[in-house]
Amino acid sequence: MPLTDLARDPDGTEQSNLQLDDQGRLRHLLSLRGLDRNLLSAILDRAESFLSDPGAVPVRGTTLAGRSVANLFLEHSTRTRASFELAAKRLGADVLNIDLSTSSAMKGESILDTVYTLQAMQVDMFVVRDRQPGTQAMIAANVDAHVSVLNAGEAHVSHPTQGLLDLLTIRLHKGDFANLTVAIVGDVAHSRVAVSATEGLIAMQVGELRLVAPPELAPEYMPGANIVPDLEAGLAGADVVMALRIQKERFTDKAGIPDDSEYFSAWGVTRERMKLAADDAIVMHPGPINRGVEIESELADGPASVIADQVTNGVAVRMAVLEMLANNGTSQ
Ligand code: CP
Repeated sequence: MPLTDLARDPDGTEQSNLQLDDQGRLRHLLSLRGLDRNLLSAILDRAESFLSDPGAVPVRGTTLAGRSVANLFLEHSTRTRASFELAAKRLGADVLNIDLSTSSAMKGESILDTVYTLQAMQVDMFVVRDRQPGTQAMIAANVDAHVSVLNAGEAHVSHPTQGLLDLLTIRLHKGDFANLTVAIVGDVAHSRVAVSATEGLIAMQVGELRLVAPPELAPEYMPGANIVPDLEAGLAGADVVMALRIQKERFTDKAGIPDDSEYFSAWGVTRERMKLAADDAIVMHPGPINRGVEIESELADGPASVIADQVTNGVAVRMAVLEMLANNGTSQ
C-alpha cells in the first residue's frame, strides 16, 4: 500500500463505510482492507462448496437467476474476466461483457454514464477493472441502493477476488495460516495482487509474511509484513512462495524497467532457489506468467506449482462473492 493511500485512509474506514452496510454485511467488494477473518472465512467456506473434481460437471446454482451482471473491463484481462463470466453464469445470471473499445465510451461517454445506462436496463452487479485508482469506489458511491460493484482490479491498489483466491489456494494446500511463512517475491511495488494478498493474509493471522523485492521494486511501507531485500533470505524456509510479474505497464519511468535476462539471473524463482524453501513448499503466481523472467518455466509446470489451482479457485471464489452480494451480504 503506497504511503499516499495510507495517509488518505489510514485504517480503511472510508473504504469499509462504502463496502459494508451498518450491520457489517457486504454491499460491494472494493478491497480486502477492513474485512475481518470471520467474513473472509465465510467466503472461503462457501467457495469450497463450489469446487468439484476435475472432469466433473461444474457446480451450479440459481442464486443469480433473473439477475444481470455486467463486466466492465477498462484494462486487459484473461483470468479475471473469464472467471467472473463463468461464475455469474453458473449461478444463473444474465451476463453482459461490455467491449469498451466499441462502446459509446469511444464517443466520450463517461464510465459513470455507461453504468447509469446499464443500471436503467436493470443490471444489478458491475464487475469493474480500471487502471485509474478509485473508479470502483466512485461507481459504488453513485449506483442505486440495490446495485453492487465488484472490484476486478484497480491500478496498483487492489484486486480483492485475487486475494481471496490466493487465500483459498493456500488454505486448501496448507491448512492453518498461523503456522505458515509466506514469501511474495518480485515487483511488489506495482502489484495490486501483493496488496490484496497482504491484506487477506494479515486478516487471517498468517505466521510470517515476507515481501521479497529488490529495493527499486519494494514497497515503501506495508503494515504487518517484513520487507526483505534479499531473495535467498526471503525464500529460506518459506511454506508458500508467490512470484509476481514485473508490471511494466505501471512504470512511470520506462528507463527503470529491469532487463528480463538480468532480472531472471538475480531475482527469478527457480527450482534451484526453491531448495531454500520448505521441502513441501508450494509455488503460486497470479498470472499472466512471463516464463524465464520472474519464474523458471519448469518450476511453473512442476509438482510444486499450484498455479492452475489458483485459476480453478478463482471461479469458486467469484461465485461465493456474487452469491453473498445477491443475498444482501450473507452466505447461504
Ligand atoms: N491474475 C489476473 O488478474 O489475471 P488477468 O489479468 O488475466 O485477469
